[in-house]
Parts: sequence; C-alpha cells; structure tokens
Amino acid sequence: MIDKIDLEQRIATYRLSDPMIVLIGPMGAGKTTVGRKLAQNLHLDFVDTDQAIEQNAGCRITEIFEQEGEEGFRQREKQALETYCCLSGTVIATGGGAILAETNRRMMRNGIVIYLHATPVQQFQRIKKRTHRPNFNPDDGVDSLIRLMKVREPLYRGEADFTVNTGKQSIELIISAIEKFLVGL
Ligand code: S3P
Repeated sequence: MIDKIDLEQRIATYRLSDPMIVLIGPMGAGKTTVGRKLAQNLHLDFVDTDQAIEQNAGCRITEIFEQEGEEGFRQREKQALETYCCLSGTVIATGGGAILAETNRRMMRNGIVIYLHATPVQQFQRIKKRTHRPNFNPDDGVDSLIRLMKVREPLYRGEADFTVNTGKQSIELIISAIEKFLVGL
C-alpha cells in the first residue's frame, strides 16, 4: 500500500496533470468497480460508458441489441467514447467489446490505458448470475467467453500501458497495483 504522504503528493500531481485513465478488459473483469474506486482515490471523475449509453438511450443494453442489433449498440458506444475519451481528469470504464473498433482504440490512446485481465473461468464465476449482457449466455458456460477472448485478448494487450490481473486479487490490491504504476509514470 502507498503511504498517506505519497498518496497526497500523487493526488497533487494528478490534479496538475489531470490524466485520463481508460480501463479496458472483458466482461466481469471489474472495470466498473475498480474504476469507481480508483477515481475516488485519485479525486478524478468517473464514467462508465455502458451506463452512459443506457442513460442516453433511456433503456437497457439488452433492449438496444434487440431493437438496433449489435451494430446499433457499437455505434452508440463509439459516440460515447467520442464524448468521454477527451476528458482529462476522468477514469473511464469501457465495455468489453469497445476494443474491437480501430476508431475506439485510437481514442483510447488519448489516455493511460489499463487492462484489467481475468480468465474466462473467473469471468464466468462473476457474471453467471447476471443476464443483462447480450453477448453472454450463462447456458454456454465459458465457451462464448473463451471465443470472445481469442479475438479480443491480443487487442487488449496491444493497447495496454499496464495490465493487472483481477481474477483472484482483492480490490485493494488491484487499486494499489494501478496506483504504483501511475506513480512511476
Ligand atoms: C459487451 C460487454 C458489456 C457491454 C455489452 C457488450 C461485450 O460491457 O458493453 O453488453 O461485447 O463484451 P462490460 O464489459 O462492462 O460487461
């Protein structure tokens, strides 16, 4: 853990440089939970693009997929990134599939990109009881998660300035690892 003086110094530095921190990684890696806490610790704003998309559309992501298809959702996701991926002083949690589009990846590079990594089995354990993700069907077990990771993992790795495994560690350790990385920048 970083001691209090370091923490204050670091916050002062961040307030001056106002970073934009972009969290990437698959469903269930903990982007929202980690992002909210990290933003709180660093006195930065927090945005979750999935939540922003839902607020803007006035409905859940599942309904967007039903009415507009995945293509419609990806279009909305791109617009959300255009809105938020230029905001300094912000931690942005992105959706697991945002990494697919080159335009999105380019926007993410405006910030410090942190990849929250979890294995498909760990992802499955976390999200199996939640049915609001259209690209995940709990009845498929880990299979669909493995399929998605095959395509997306190289893209996550390719964009990451820093990677942290979120599968087994406590949120405190995950945040501490990210903070140590940021301090060393
Ligand atoms: C998706 C991940 C979801 C959400 C949408 C599609 C995906 O975000 O954007 O359901 O294709 O992996 P989380 O990664 O926050 O669950």
